[in-house]
Amino acid sequence: MALDTYYTLGNTGLRVSRLALGTMTFGTEWGWGIEKKDSAKIFDCYLENGGNFVDTADMYTGGTSEKFIGDFMKERKNRESIVLATKFTFNNTEEKFINGGGNSRKNIRRTLEESLKRLQTDYIDLYIMHCWDRMTPVEEVMRTLNDLVTEGKILHYAFSNVPAWYASKAQTIARYNNYEPICALQLEYSLIQRTIENEFIDLTQDMNAGIMAWSPLGGGLLSGKYKPGIDGQKDVQGRLKQITDNGGEVSSKDNERNWNIVKTLHEVSEEINQPMASVAINWIASQPSVATVLVGATKLSQIKENMSALEFTIPAESMEKLKAASAPVISYPYTFFEPKTLGRIYPGTKVGLKPDNYWKELRIG
Ligand SMILES: NC(=O)c1ccc[n+]([C@@H]2O[C@H](COP(=O)([O-])OP(=O)(O)OC[C@H]3O[C@@H](n4cnc5c(N)ncnc54)[C@H](OP(=O)(O)O)[C@@H]3O)[C@@H](O)[C@H]2O)c1
Repeated sequence: MALDTYYTLGNTGLRVSRLALGTMTFGTEWGWGIEKKDSAKIFDCYLENGGNFVDTADMYTGGTSEKFIGDFMKERKNRESIVLATKFTFNNTEEKFINGGGNSRKNIRRTLEESLKRLQTDYIDLYIMHCWDRMTPVEEVMRTLNDLVTEGKILHYAFSNVPAWYASKAQTIARYNNYEPICALQLEYSLIQRTIENEFIDLTQDMNAGIMAWSPLGGGLLSGKYKPGIDGQKDVQGRLKQITDNGGEVSSKDNERNWNIVKTLHEVSEEINQPMASVAINWIASQPSVATVLVGATKLSQIKENMSALEFTIPAESMEKLKAASAPVISYPYTFFEPKTLGRIYPGTKVGLKPDNYWKELRIG
């Protein structure tokens, strides 16, 4: 089985696969997703290969993703063997009423009930705040989520798309109130999107939470269908092309830096004879603090390729080559925390930064 190793998620006893199944492609409502029968094939293939961690959200394809998963689990009678994650925050109501979005107690409780109905279950393993709403007091969010754990409606909770200070404040509230702690942060992380390294690696190690990396292929840019030398997006297919054709946000990915990363990824993939998608996923899964990588697919062949991403080791020099090509800009004040500055704080001392694999060695294999 491709996915036969499980790690505990953050500081919990919950064992999850290093690759989680992202189901944002389940349903055709957004223009680049797939029909139910094709979603079922991907779902089955992931589970048959040992995967146990399924990620969705109330708003994915307007609720269809959750409905498909609910039906699949019911038909296969496998709810208990799955670690099920879903999210709240975005306004998924038809009427778009004012309290139908956000992280208020009122909305969290309402959306949870809706998700439970669509998923045909009476509890969620990991309930995720999809995004900071800039409005609800963090105390209200934490109290509500902790209450839901006490009631047994959710088992654990996590945050996605939040500033580091906010997550840190929330975890401090949890610690000093004896609340269930946040066990994961779901963040965009890929060779083309490494900005989280400024804060979130240190943060997650400090707060004992694992990173769930979303869009590890940059929505498809690192998947192998884009090759260096191809002029921008005009010759490619898939989600990125569809979004571009609709005037969407993807044009921000079409820049020189990203094409250089694709070029280096292509070179490394040729050197080690592994598909580009697998190399890109392997690289992210090997980074400190990463508990799981969310893999998405629109075809069975894609999920099979992505699941094989952990079956090889990228040689150290190739890891470095990818790291150098994709290095994020280190902005102020993070420039102050580089080894060069530490040497000025502790002159004459060999400053011991923790090795990259420090966190991984603490995890249970
Ligand atoms: N918390 C959040 O805010 C957030 C945001 C986004 C995603 N997520 C989660 O993360 C999951 C993964 O995100 P993502 O779908 O953006 O991930 P991604 O890995 O960056 O992109 C996946 C897409 O790339 C293409 N692809 C994947 N494997 C391929 C392969 N082997 N060969 C060729 N093309 C391939 C497919 O699209 P095409 O075939 O259409 O090209 C697929 O849908 C989502 O399902 C969701 O669960 C969370």
